[in-house]
Order: sequence, then C-alpha cells, then structure tokens
Amino acid sequence: MKLLIINGPNLNMLGLREPDIYGRQDFAALENFIRETCEAQGIEAELFQSNHEGAIVDTIQGAYGRIDGIVINPAAYTHTSVAILDALKAVSIPAVEVHLSDVTKRESFRQISYAGLACVKSYIGLGFEGYRQAILFLKNYLEGRENT
Ligand code: DQA
Repeated sequence: MKLLIINGPNLNMLGLREPDIYGRQDFAALENFIRETCEAQGIEAELFQSNHEGAIVDTIQGAYGRIDGIVINPAAYTHTSVAILDALKAVSIPAVEVHLSDVTKRESFRQISYAGLACVKSYIGLGFEGYRQAILFLKNYLEGRENT
C-alpha cells in the first residue's frame, strides 16, 4: 500500500510559525512522525510539501494509477482552492483531510473546506496525532475495500 502525504503552504514553517496555534515542533519532526507511522504499519509513504497551489494540483494528478490513498493538509488552500478539490475528484483516490489546529473554533474564513468535500474523513485539531489517525483510517479503509 502506498500513501501520498501532502502538506500545503507555510507548514514548512512549523515550529517558528504561530507556535501557540501550531505547536513548537518543526516540520522535519512532523515528516519524521509521518514516516515512522507509515513504517510501523508497513505502508510506503511519499511526502510532498509545497507553497504553490499548482504544484499541489500537479502532484495530485501525478498520483493517479500510482498511489492508493492521500492524506492532505492543504493549509490555507483548504479555504480557497477549488482547483485542489477538483484534482482530488479527478483522480478519485480516497483522501483524508488533516488540520493541526481546530479550524472549527477559528476565524469565519476558515469554516469552509473545499478539499474536505472530496475527502472520506477529516481529522481536525489533533496536532501531529491527526496525521497518525488519518494514516490508520486510510489503511483500514483501503484494506476493507480490497476485501469487498
Ligand atoms: C491548517 C489550518 C489552516 O486554516 C491554515 O491556513 C494552515 C494550517 C492547520 O493545519 O491547522 O496553514 O491547515
């Protein structure tokens, strides 16, 4: 099983960036956490981070026929990008949305998630743990689909 984990803009600034909201651990720590979680589950992981909407769209398109599931934190593009939503729909790869912070308790402009409309599940406000839960959920979801 191969998963693609996508992180959007400014997540590479973790640790420095608004630590009271996003925590003090840096992006390298998040990537290690994701890699270790996947390794423990025998899952092959491809990690991608970009500050550019088109690069994220290209990466989702490039997953077609190669990747079994996608974990995505589109960051600010969550709330603006119909292009990322359309790319997820176009490839039809099961996807799970993750947000480190509890966006439901933040500004009104964060209350819409376009990408989330194409996701089978969302983990919100759990910090790094949300990525672990998303990976475990996708593993079960994909194994369940294989058995049907
Ligand atoms: C975020 C929440 C978004 O609203 C914000 O723009 C981010 C990070 C999160 O992980 O909590 O950059 O996706």
